[in-house]
Amino acid sequence: MPLQPARLEFNPDGTPYSAAFDDIYHTAHGGPGQARHVFLGGNDLPARWQGRERFVILETGFGLGLNFLAAWQAWRADPQRCRRLHFVSIEKHPFTAADLAIVQQAWPEFAELAAELQQRWPLLTPGTHRLHLNDNRVVLTLIFGDATTQLREVDASVDAFFLDGFSPARNPELWSPYLCKALARLAAPGATLATWCLARPARDALAAAEFDLERRPGYAARREMLVGRFRSRRPDRHPLPAERHAIVIGAGIAGSTTAHRLAAAGWQVTVLEQAAEPGSGASSNLAGMLRPLPSADDNRLSRLTRTGFLATRALLAGLPDARWSPCGVLHLAREAEHEAQQRRAVEQLGWPPELLQFVDRAEASRRLGQPVDIGGWWFPNAGWVQPPSLCKAALAAFPERITTHFNAAVDRLEMVKTGWRALDASGALLAEAPVLVMASGAAAPRFAQFAWLPQVTARGQVSHLPADATPPLDVVLFQIGYAMPEIDGTRLIGASLSYEDDEAAERVADHSDNLARLRLTLPGFAAGIDPATLHGRVGFRPMSPDRLPIVGRVPEALAAGSNARLHALPRQPGLWCVQGFGARGIVWSALMADLLVSQLEGEPLPLEKDLVDALDPGRFLLRNARRAEAESDDS
Ligand SMILES: Cc1cc2nc3c(=O)[nH]c(=O)nc-3n(C[C@H](O)[C@H](O)[C@H](O)COP(=O)(O)OP(=O)(O)OC[C@H]3O[C@@H](n4cnc5c(N)ncnc54)[C@H](O)[C@@H]3O)c2cc1C
Ligand SMILES: C[S@@+](CC[C@H](N)C(=O)[O-])C[C@H]1O[C@@H](n2cnc3c(N)ncnc32)[C@H](O)[C@@H]1O
Repeated sequence: MPLQPARLEFNPDGTPYSAAFDDIYHTAHGGPGQARHVFLGGNDLPARWQGRERFVILETGFGLGLNFLAAWQAWRADPQRCRRLHFVSIEKHPFTAADLAIVQQAWPEFAELAAELQQRWPLLTPGTHRLHLNDNRVVLTLIFGDATTQLREVDASVDAFFLDGFSPARNPELWSPYLCKALARLAAPGATLATWCLARPARDALAAAEFDLERRPGYAARREMLVGRFRSRRPDRHPLPAERHAIVIGAGIAGSTTAHRLAAAGWQVTVLEQAAEPGSGASSNLAGMLRPLPSADDNRLSRLTRTGFLATRALLAGLPDARWSPCGVLHLAREAEHEAQQRRAVEQLGWPPELLQFVDRAEASRRLGQPVDIGGWWFPNAGWVQPPSLCKAALAAFPERITTHFNAAVDRLEMVKTGWRALDASGALLAEAPVLVMASGAAAPRFAQFAWLPQVTARGQVSHLPADATPPLDVVLFQIGYAMPEIDGTRLIGASLSYEDDEAAERVADHSDNLARLRLTLPGFAAGIDPATLHGRVGFRPMSPDRLPIVGRVPEALAAGSNARLHALPRQPGLWCVQGFGARGIVWSALMADLLVSQLEGEPLPLEKDLVDALDPGRFLLRNARRAEAESDDS
């Protein structure tokens, strides 16, 4: 179901009001005061976050962002604040940034923070959106969707709950026993809750979910409010890392963005790269396409590429030296039936037009500046990215925390008591750290610890046309192949794809194929260009069997027939990977780095749990163990 944004309305005394729920967003006696008294005070904040490494707040109903702004402001003002503050909030009907700007004007004390929030406010699409604020020390995880289904997709260890749905009489689903149990599942030891709501059904549901409840003096006209403490003594499932030091092998987009995100979280990172500079392997192209891949039913790939696209865009916005252009991507349909599917997907998904539109043949021709015979998808804020510049900018962002060693080819890995050692071919030690992240693209399965990795390589060749040999092109065009706008006098077109093919040298035949694919879309566009005169680049895409990345902690080998579950798989201490970026490395890079680092830190994850599981390296070991069992049954 497409998201239904909230409609901004006010009741006669000027308090923001929801006609859909027939309730107000906050008390008429001052929203900021209520936020501080009920939600911060009720959870004993700021005192409880003081001196801590991490503190996690989860809120039901982000609404106007008032509670978030109050928490952020209190954290900033507190000299003893925790090192990182996480605020996770679920909202079924988010406001647009423009509406937030109108409402948030009412709170001049939050003006600076509100402006930053509005500027970074995500497009209104379903799923998880992550905002790294305040030098990465405040992380806002916004989940746009229904809390009754989305809470079970959250992976976090929550220290304080802000229960702020509309009143149970008008919004019972946000206070149901089911929902309260889902909250309890996320509670860290000693977690607390606070709410203005004293309704009996809500109290019963919270008590049944193991919260000890207590009434405290309320705010303004309300005499009392409710606070609670989680009773259970179960151990924290998300411990902090013992030491923040990691080796990353590979300085392609996987390794560079991982090193960047690790450093942003306060890690010391040693990057080992066999080439002389970043972005020398598959990530060495002059440009690659960045856009999501929608589907009418918003399937896994559609959700992942949408979240990945938005995450890469956010990362690029913070790296001024990365070269990229949001020039727009036009994805033309292959034939009439495909065109109808594309049109249907746009209608069903209901994504904001800034993200996705359907354009007919005439509009597609206009956008392209060339006549085409079919319509397709138009992604106005998508475009091209130059991967080597992204790698360099990401690695340079934290010079005090990222150490790079180039011409440093890792030959083998050794596990020692204190973690992992990376050795070169002569047996010399290149680096040693408690955590090692493999991000060596196509090379990874050569390491003994990654022999299980079911990754194959797909050779790809792009062709560089002299830009003045073709008419101009201002957008990225994709149909059977793709063509880029001019970059430094060159127009990149591509790309070939072949398996079991390790030829590193360029082939004229592949340049011919790239030209032929372009001719199918734009018949006279590159007329007269002789493929034998062209140059380009060859790279080897690290492909996983299901075309999804392979990200997370590396599992131990599994015996055939094991019926272990994914979350209970034994894992190798300190060994992690960011692999399998295949043909979509640019769209995966920022999101996968954020996922891996959140897992290492034990922080709330930037993706829904079903998507995290779809990326888990353990998925292949489970499949293999089951297949081996089935084969032994057959024989
Ligand atoms: C022709 C072509 C076109 C593409 N087009 C697009 C596109 O339009 N959009 C898109 O999103 N993606 C595209 N891709 C895919 C994208 O480029 C890849 O998914 C991405 O570059 C993979 O990044 P990576 O960091 O995993 O691997 P790599 O970039 O290969 O990085 C791995 C690094 O590890 C280093 N390394 C390997 N072994 C060792 C060792 N033993 N010791 C130290 N270092 C080591 C390598 O030198 C390399 O620098 C394309 C790929 C190709 C080949
Ligand atoms: C009282 S308002 C929240 C105010 C907000 N906490 C703030 O600080 O501005 C309640 C919010 O709950 C949201 N909501 C209602 N039902 C929901 C559901 N099932 N899932 C997620 N959000 C829901 C509403 O859209 C509304 O924004």
